[in-house]
Parts: sequence; C-alpha cells; structure tokens
Amino acid sequence: MKNEKILLQHTFEITRAHRQARYGHRSLVVWMTGLSGSGKSTLANEVLKLLHQASIKVYVLDGDSIRSGIGRDLGFSLSDRTENIRRIAEIAKLFVDAGTVVITSLISPIEHDRQMARQIIGSEDVVEVYVECPLAVCADRDVKGLYKKAFAGELDNFTGVGSPYEPPAHPDITVHTAEHAIHDCANSLFKHILERIA
Ligand code: ADX
Repeated sequence: MKNEKILLQHTFEITRAHRQARYGHRSLVVWMTGLSGSGKSTLANEVLKLLHQASIKVYVLDGDSIRSGIGRDLGFSLSDRTENIRRIAEIAKLFVDAGTVVITSLISPIEHDRQMARQIIGSEDVVEVYVECPLAVCADRDVKGLYKKAFAGELDNFTGVGSPYEPPAHPDITVHTAEHAIHDCANSLFKHILERIA
C-alpha cells in the first residue's frame, strides 16, 4: 500500500477553549438556509454589524463569494451542492475552533445535506436559521434577475424552479422576511445568538 495516506495530527497547545476564554464568548455556526432572494445575505450583513459592534468575533461565509474561489469547480447539480455544503461545513468547523462566530449564508436546499453539515460541525455548535420567504415574493424581488431567466427556461437547476428546496424540519429559529422588516429579523436573530454564545 505505497499510496496509503498517513496523517499524524500535531496537538497544538492553544485550543478552542483558550480562545473562547480570551474572546469572552463561545464560538458557533449560524447556518442560514433559504431560497435565493429570501434575504440571507442582507440578514447576514445586518447581524454581522450587530455582533461586531458588540465586540463578538464574527465572520460571514457567503454562497456567492465562496463559489468564486473554494467552490469554483462546482455547479448547481444536487451532487455539486452537496460538495459545496460539505466544504463550507468543514471551513465553518475551523472557524469554530478558531473561536469565531461564523454565519453561513447558503441556499443549502436539501435536508440531508444540512444534516451532513450538522454532523461535520457538531450539533451543539450549530444554530439553524430558516430564512423563510415565499417563492413568489423572492421571484418578485428578483434582485439578480435569475428567477426571470429560470422561468424563461434559460437557467437550469434553479432552486425552487427546476431544482427542489426542502424547508428545514426543525430550525432553531425562523425569520419571515416577507412579513417583517429586515432590521427586526436581524434583531431577533442577534438576541438568539447572544444567548447561545454567553
Ligand atoms: S447551494 O445550493 O449550493 O447552497 P449557494 O448558496 O452556494 O447554493 O449558491 C446560490 C447562489 O448562486 C444564488 O444566490 C445565485 O446567486 C447563484 N445561482 C446561480 N445559478 C443558480 C442555480 N441554478 N440555483 C441556485 N442558485 C444559483
């Protein structure tokens, strides 16, 4: 077995516990799921500002920007989405070890993939946030013009049109962006996160 992978992980003497003690809060993954245009990135940005102002170490991993680098070889088939979510879950786990609150903003449409992410990260370190918004409202907003393309048959595998979205079965928190102002959604999420990292 010449090609067998031999990995010996070094034990570093500064751990997550040391970092959390230094920063004064727990680390955590805030895993957002929701349709394209549901408001995930806008909400992530608002919560990011609130947490930063409260001196919390926080970072956002956003689908569109991750896909231009680490995920640039991936498309939107269900298997590519699984791989996208696996990679981001692994990265999020590193952020947790680094003592940071990390907000992931991905459609993550499939329950099974979200379960996988939870398993990779560790269930106790995940807050699942359902950014709920009816498809018709997302399509009406159509911030990126993608729904128009998808309905015209010019974009394959678009979530909610040619590709499924499975709402989460048991999210820790749900925000309804069609019914409430983004500022109010951000505030309720901010409060929830503060409780979880205390
Ligand atoms: S996920 O399904 O793998 O979680 P991710 O959040 O990374 O998706 O990427 C979604 C973003 O890619 C959307 O916000 C949109 O801007 C863009 N996009 C381009 N094509 C598609 C598609 N076919 N389905 C969904 N999003 C798409």
